[in-house]
Amino acid sequence: MSLALRCLPRRLPPASFCMLRYASTKTQLPPPDPNRRRIPRKTYIPPERQVVKKKKIQEKGIGPHNLSPEEMKRRQRKFIVVAAGVYLLFVAGAYYYLTYGVAADAGNYEDAKPRDTREIYDNLAEDYDSIINRDEQFMLLSLWRKDVTKQLKGDVLEVGCGTGRNMKYLDLPGKVSSMTFVDTSANMVAEAEKSFKKRYPKYQYAEFKVSRTEDLPTDKKFDVIYETFGICSYEDPVAALKHMQELLKPGGRIILLEHGRGTWDFINRILDKNAASRSEVFGCRWNLDIGEIVRQSGLVIDHEERWHLGTTWTIFAHREGEELPVEPKKRFLIW
Ligand SMILES: C[S@@+](CC[C@H](N)C(=O)[O-])C[C@H]1O[C@@H](n2cnc3c(N)ncnc32)[C@H](O)[C@@H]1O
Repeated sequence: MSLALRCLPRRLPPASFCMLRYASTKTQLPPPDPNRRRIPRKTYIPPERQVVKKKKIQEKGIGPHNLSPEEMKRRQRKFIVVAAGVYLLFVAGAYYYLTYGVAADAGNYEDAKPRDTREIYDNLAEDYDSIINRDEQFMLLSLWRKDVTKQLKGDVLEVGCGTGRNMKYLDLPGKVSSMTFVDTSANMVAEAEKSFKKRYPKYQYAEFKVSRTEDLPTDKKFDVIYETFGICSYEDPVAALKHMQELLKPGGRIILLEHGRGTWDFINRILDKNAASRSEVFGCRWNLDIGEIVRQSGLVIDHEERWHLGTTWTIFAHREGEELPVEPKKRFLIW
């Protein structure tokens, strides 16, 4: 007996073991599901091997050129700075080229006169978005629109709302309790209302008014009044800003995202040269000193930023005589 036991192999070979197992479970297993997706098994790398891999990267480097991680980071940073520089040069060059071309054709370097722009925007309303989309994409203006619109809260009034290009960034329903849209052009308001109803079909606290900002009744007050790229088209922007202050609740704020004079002489010369022809087509005076207009209205500026060679202005302001807490400003770009 003991001899017979000794003659048996110590371990069964793996294949035969599998066959045994198969034979024992064959009848209990359900048929395989043809639609079942195979989930790849996660490869387990023991911690000691992970350390070896990290060490190897540190010694040999990464990428086809075997760069050290520090060198890789340095090169990435350099690339971002160079790419941003090239982009800015490109924007400035293209801006100069395009506007200079317009100036040469117009041959009219008179300054733009303030005027009622209602008729111009009534005629432009239907095509307004497609006309300005290209320019805005070129200057990445949606980033600025998003930045200011995300900061709205409470009862909000948007004046000179146009076709409602900011509404997609509204926190609705959320921080914003009610929205009032106002524009002097009936056709622009109609476009804004159409887009709003499509985007927020269930929202009930939105109002659309055709009126000059200066003529709005002061019975309803707002936590925030904001305007994007509208001051340039106002006949009397100082009067409008003064009236906005009467529409604010105590502690309310005015937020402006505007375009106007830049911080460089060369860009201001281009703007001045083309102001009249630009105003003829778009009803917009693009060489206004926005900061000066805001100061003339008596508003106190809490925060002012300038981009695109100083031609894009972001201004946060409040009524004179009020102490407002300084709100931390959320940054949308790099810092
Ligand atoms: C350049 S568009 C800007 C529209 C929109 N805010 C945007 O960001 O696309 C200027 C708008 O201001 C409006 N506007 C001009 N004067 C106004 C006034 N006194 N009161 C209200 N809106 C006015 C025009 O009808 C036009 O829709």
